[in-house]
Amino acid sequence: MKDLIWDESLSVQVDEIDEDHRRLIDLFNILSHAVAENDSLIYVEAVLEELISCTVWHFRHEERLMIKYNYGDYPEHKADHEALIDSVRDLQKRFRAAGKLSDEDISFLEHWLTGHILSADMKLGAFLGEII
Ligand SMILES: [Fe+2]
Repeated sequence: MKDLIWDESLSVQVDEIDEDHRRLIDLFNILSHAVAENDSLIYVEAVLEELISCTVWHFRHEERLMIKYNYGDYPEHKADHEALIDSVRDLQKRFRAAGKLSDEDISFLEHWLTGHILSADMKLGAFLGEII
């Protein structure tokens, strides 16, 4: 198991967004360690819920900035956020039914997290970087 490391390649060049992303990556690493070390179900569940809750909070943060600065791609970006939350809630349901997170689930979460940062958030960062 390899930790996800936040580095400049993940920077969207907006400090307050980068700060949130770093926190989400920390939580992802805590979760992946918990799974690799066979921590208790209740602990894995708590970390997964914390990751999801922080992500929901972070998405509201980005959406507030998009509204404030009249970001043209706001509807698409918000729809992306909703789809990401739906997919992680599905994973959470599967986890509860199966009683474990698999290596595939962890790798799904890795792409779930970095894929959005590297696409939609980079575009948002480029826009916000010009005005704030
Ligand atoms: Fe986003």
